Amino acid sequence: MDARELGGTLAWKDRAREALGTSRARLLDLLRPVPPSVLVTQHSPLMSPVVWDVAHVANYEEQWLLRALGEPGFTGPETDRLYDAFRTPRRIRGELPLLGAEEAMAYAEQVRARALRRLERLNDEDLARTGPLLDGGFVYGMVAQHEQQHVETLISTLQLVTSTVLDPLPSEIPLPRRSVLAREVHVPGGPFHMGTGEAWAYDNERPRHRVDVPPFFIDRFPVSNGQFLAFMEDGGYANRAHWAAEGWAFRQGERLAHPLFWRRARGGWERRRFGTWEPVPPDEPVCHVCWYEADAYARWAGRRLPTEAEWEKAAAATPEGKVRRYPWGDAPPDLSRANLWPRGGQPARVGAFAAGASAFGVEQMIGDVWEWTASDFQPYPGFRAFPYPEYSAVFFGSDYKVLRGGSWAVAPDAIRNTFRNWDYPIRRQIFAGFRCARDA
Ligand SMILES: [Fe+2]
Repeated sequence: MDARELGGTLAWKDRAREALGTSRARLLDLLRPVPPSVLVTQHSPLMSPVVWDVAHVANYEEQWLLRALGEPGFTGPETDRLYDAFRTPRRIRGELPLLGAEEAMAYAEQVRARALRRLERLNDEDLARTGPLLDGGFVYGMVAQHEQQHVETLISTLQLVTSTVLDPLPSEIPLPRRSVLAREVHVPGGPFHMGTGEAWAYDNERPRHRVDVPPFFIDRFPVSNGQFLAFMEDGGYANRAHWAAEGWAFRQGERLAHPLFWRRARGGWERRRFGTWEPVPPDEPVCHVCWYEADAYARWAGRRLPTEAEWEKAAAATPEGKVRRYPWGDAPPDLSRANLWPRGGQPARVGAFAAGASAFGVEQMIGDVWEWTASDFQPYPGFRAFPYPEYSAVFFGSDYKVLRGGSWAVAPDAIRNTFRNWDYPIRRQIFAGFRCARDA
């Protein structure tokens, strides 16, 4: 460890304290109005009971911000196992002797208080002993982002509850005041630098590396409900020709005919949002479609999903050969540029963020809906698993598709152009939509 790094010990402490404080406040704000009976119930085999997530967040923090830093924890191997995402399958979590709502919250607060005290005492000796875990405060960024990610998970759990557990979330996002004629933009071919080396980035975003991307066109906006309805009304769900083989089998087995949470009503299509049925807004990005539905739509439209490299190039690269942290530059997201938790409460109308455009003019890449890409989740050249293989490495392969850009339920601290999310191509309960691309 060189002197420069040692001298930086304190530089990130404020950022760490603030990130942990923000993520905890968001967790508490989200759950405060939810009745305890909803918190302890498993609402779907796809999602844990809320109390599992809360205690899992606490246990993760206990492992990384206490025990990994030489501080005593509060629990042991049994609790670790119960709240380990790998060793305890999701579908059975509702049958386990989990902590109750108040106990889980108390556990989280107890761990947090000790973790903050440990943070205050951290010194150069700890840095030297612990090594890369504390470089730039990495492990604090990891724990704060982890808590943020579980806030989004809990929002999607609450969306599955059919009764009204949350008031319809108020939106602070302005409506678009313009019409846009060009619906796609051209991105010239050539190399750009994909990935990042920033201190709080995850292992799967590293290292930054050069990728040559042939020229392509990409949609300026995510595909809207209105556009998706055109696909539905044209028999898109019934036409085998638009579907990948596994996608067709899934569509048949599940009898898919519309996005999740939609129903046909007398006046047209409706969607359920936190227990409330409302008309489907035609100019909002479509959400709750799986990868196979996105892929079928793209084929129907004579297009395709963008690769992950195309998506990141369209978001991050500039014609001058630089890369940006967000599409609009390096300034943190605000209400004029992106719809992120807790400001929007639902996807924003297409065209709402002219100021959030990338250097190539692509809009709404950050926030609103996660965007399915054509790409499998694979390591970048030179990948090194850190700090544990279960974060990313065990998921690499052809089982998972990459999603980019974050949804309205993602917090600003847990998203950037390089951030990679992944899920099975059949998943629909996540806040995912897509945009299309084509070769130039
Ligand atoms: Fe987790």
